[in-house]
Amino acid sequence: MTERIFNFSAGPAVLPVPVLEQARDELLGLPGVGMSVMEISHRSKTFDEIIAGAESNLRELMGIPENYHVLFLQGGASLQFSMIPMNLLGEGQSADYVITGSWGKKALKEAKKQGAAAVAADMADSRYSRVPDDGELKLNPDAAYVHMTSNETIEGVEFKAEPETNGVPLINDASSNICSRPIDVSKHALIYAGAQKNLGPSGVTVVIIREDLLERIPAGLHTMLDYRTHAENGSLYNTPNTWGIYILNLVCEWAVEQGGLASIHQRNEEKARKIYDQIDASDFYRGHAARDARSLMNVTFRLPSEELEKKFATEATAAGLDGLKGHRSVGGIRASIYNAFPVEGVDALTQFMREFERTNG
Ligand SMILES: Cc1ncc(COP(=O)(O)O)c(C=O)c1O
Repeated sequence: MTERIFNFSAGPAVLPVPVLEQARDELLGLPGVGMSVMEISHRSKTFDEIIAGAESNLRELMGIPENYHVLFLQGGASLQFSMIPMNLLGEGQSADYVITGSWGKKALKEAKKQGAAAVAADMADSRYSRVPDDGELKLNPDAAYVHMTSNETIEGVEFKAEPETNGVPLINDASSNICSRPIDVSKHALIYAGAQKNLGPSGVTVVIIREDLLERIPAGLHTMLDYRTHAENGSLYNTPNTWGIYILNLVCEWAVEQGGLASIHQRNEEKARKIYDQIDASDFYRGHAARDARSLMNVTFRLPSEELEKKFATEATAAGLDGLKGHRSVGGIRASIYNAFPVEGVDALTQFMREFERTNG
């Protein structure tokens, strides 16, 4: 077998080995089909079963109520930054955006092209190291929706609970922490996520949308940009990412076999705790996020100098720990440890951190 290194990439990210093995085994021919999933019609009975399986496994895993549609779209989470206001920000309405980092800012930028979008909170003063308390939110009771980013991938800050929006529909970009822990889907009007962190390869975007929101969509939207098109056609209006949906289905099956989201959450907490404990063990490493906003998925930290950060990332790569360089916009080190990231990789990182501090501290 090809040797695998520890992949700390923020996304596309590590996938469960059993999923990759099954995909490898079925690459030349799905059992009983004799063709790969990439070579069959998206209208075939075989693909019907795959997409239905993906939906029902995701529903089971997340506890998605009946009155929500599950859509498998393309265009990444970034296209949702535009589709959300195009579909849901009506004439004369305003939407509230909670900004806890880089992705929330991008979502807001697109919303402003569509209509009125207000900032309910912007954590810039903390250099995006915190998330707001409910008391810090300036919410408009008449807003079309409140948009949040439950985990800011670049800064490594995560909400531990949904903000209270007092009945205003809550929309969540959960790209980097979907399925990392149990959540109450019914507290949200819409949840979306690019698949390439916790759910599969890039090229599929999951949108979980409450049925009644479809009624608000203005007439005349372009067909492909209208959520109704995809809801009415079971995500098969046009050719979907068949390969991506196939892998997503396998990842969901794997997650169910892991004991579901409660077990996965427990393991994620243990993995993250090990790295944060190492950060807290001395002054050499400095965590970016405030303790109560620390992400379980993206652990961000600094070293005493940029030179040392560069050296850390380079030497870590040489030691088989890849993808630790922080995002170019913020620098530092980022360890992304999504669901499929093995605890052995976390142990290898903390050992590397101790050794690096001993020789460079
Ligand atoms: C929280 C968050 N939102 C949005 C995006 C953009 O996703 P995509 O590249 O699928 O458009 C990312 C990508 O990393 C992300 O982490």
